[in-house]
Amino acid sequence: MESMLSTKDLTKQFGDFTANDKINFSVREGEIKAIVGENGAGKTTLMNMLYGDLEPTSGAVFLRGKHVRFNSPRDAIANGIGMVHQHFMLVPSFSVYENILLGAEIVNERIPFLVNSKEEKQRCRELIEKYGYDLDVNEKVANLSVGEQQKIEILKMLYRDVDILILDEPTSVLTPQEVDEFLIQLKKLKAKGKTIIIITHKLREVMDVSDSVMVMKQGQVIGNVETDETSEAELAQMMVGRKVLLTVQNDHKSVDGRTVMLNVNGLTTNDAAGKTVVNNVSFHIETGEIYGIAGVEGNGQSELVKLLSGMMESTSGSVVFEGQDITNWWVNDLRSKGIGIVPEDRFAEGLCKEMTLCANSIAGSTASKDFSPRGVFSTKRIRDHCQTLIDEYRIRIADFDGNVSQLSGGNAQKLIIAREMFKSPKLLIACQPTRGVDIGAIEFIHRQIIDFRDKGGAVLLVSSELSEVLSLADRVGVMYKGGIIGEVDPQQTTETEVGLLMAGAAPRTEATA
Ligand SMILES: Nc1ncnc2c1ncn2[C@@H]1O[C@H](COP(=O)(O)OP(=O)(O)OP(=O)(O)O)[C@@H](O)[C@H]1O
Ligand SMILES: [Mg+2]
Repeated sequence: MESMLSTKDLTKQFGDFTANDKINFSVREGEIKAIVGENGAGKTTLMNMLYGDLEPTSGAVFLRGKHVRFNSPRDAIANGIGMVHQHFMLVPSFSVYENILLGAEIVNERIPFLVNSKEEKQRCRELIEKYGYDLDVNEKVANLSVGEQQKIEILKMLYRDVDILILDEPTSVLTPQEVDEFLIQLKKLKAKGKTIIIITHKLREVMDVSDSVMVMKQGQVIGNVETDETSEAELAQMMVGRKVLLTVQNDHKSVDGRTVMLNVNGLTTNDAAGKTVVNNVSFHIETGEIYGIAGVEGNGQSELVKLLSGMMESTSGSVVFEGQDITNWWVNDLRSKGIGIVPEDRFAEGLCKEMTLCANSIAGSTASKDFSPRGVFSTKRIRDHCQTLIDEYRIRIADFDGNVSQLSGGNAQKLIIAREMFKSPKLLIACQPTRGVDIGAIEFIHRQIIDFRDKGGAVLLVSSELSEVLSLADRVGVMYKGGIIGEVDPQQTTETEVGLLMAGAAPRTEATA
């Protein structure tokens, strides 16, 4: 098969930093090409160049063998190349069809300054049907799940008739059920002749859906393989340069003299619309224990974490930390008591994008004597601290003095975890700690969490990755419709049993067991 889209020595520099170094990439017509590589390897940068969003420093792009130069995404789309970014760009107050048509509205023939919404809806319905999606064109986007919103982003591109679809970590925001459905959709798109490029950190997905794989490392291509001639273990080794443990070693060590660190009792809250989103939640976490929360996303996990980390207020119930009532405390007070917080949305809640790496590296501990020994900030101490975080967590950066917004998604996540861990908290609240993080770093972060637990730390781990919760946690509460529907021992349970609870099935009790 001929090459559909390719590059010759494509290079991108940010100042002195080379994010893409003479990349020779090629995707065949009608195939699904996976791109894998560690955080900061340069995957997103490469795709942004193919999509006309970033200008290459040097090198060339070829479409069906012809040298092309795109000055904007509009150019790329006109040439049949569409991209869905990891952070969606939809208008929540608009309906499904309005979002799909945005920028390509169909004008009413008789009244030219009005759109022909009847025609627009009809075309959208046909499009949705053609690709086998299940969406109501009139529904407001704000009412849709993340998975449905992603479908709209894809439909937006399909409406513009692209032949090549670039998807940057499309599955990292999806629930496991949505991932399965998404992968089936991808295969359908391929069957309809589309060429697909997908970036993902999940090797299972690579093996499931792709025809070939390109592996990147530190801005370079280090391998191109056919999917049926490789394995997860080999890809992992290529990416990281060493053998990676794909499952974490966890001895569930029992720490002597365990005491209750956190006690949550009857915690309840409503969302802005008055709907109860956390409903009478009770659990406790002991010292030296990881308490996991599993559940299909949208069942109150995010709100529970917000309640416990001072970002939302409860309407009833209590939170007691080391014997002290901390219900509805502010985030700074919680932090100063020894609670580390890894929030769900790294850029909205975890980092300040407009500030430097150094400033972000001490966020939440600006009052600490470590950074201002004589009452004024010591620049040297802060810089040393920031450098330590970068070294220990292998955070790949272009510019030490630059803003945090320069970080790739996974590197931003690693910075937050490094910062929270270095404060040696007593309790760590970790929400989706490894989302968007590469497999080598996942192994490292899992190790950190387990070591922290083994030294007597308490952890609340909330993750939509069921395997992550089950392999790390000592006890797991399953959330359903705002409440904890059942609690399981991960060493005694199965993914199927937890899956049933996640779907709202009645928990097994002594009477029914
Ligand atoms: N606008 C920018 N200015 C400076 N450096 C940048 C910029 N964009 C990206 N970089 C740097 O280029 C490198 C590659 O980033 P890129 O986003 O392509 O990585 P990635 O492979 O997509 O990583 P991840 O898996 O974490 O998403 C990173 O080290 C990043 O810090
Ligand atoms: Mg990326």
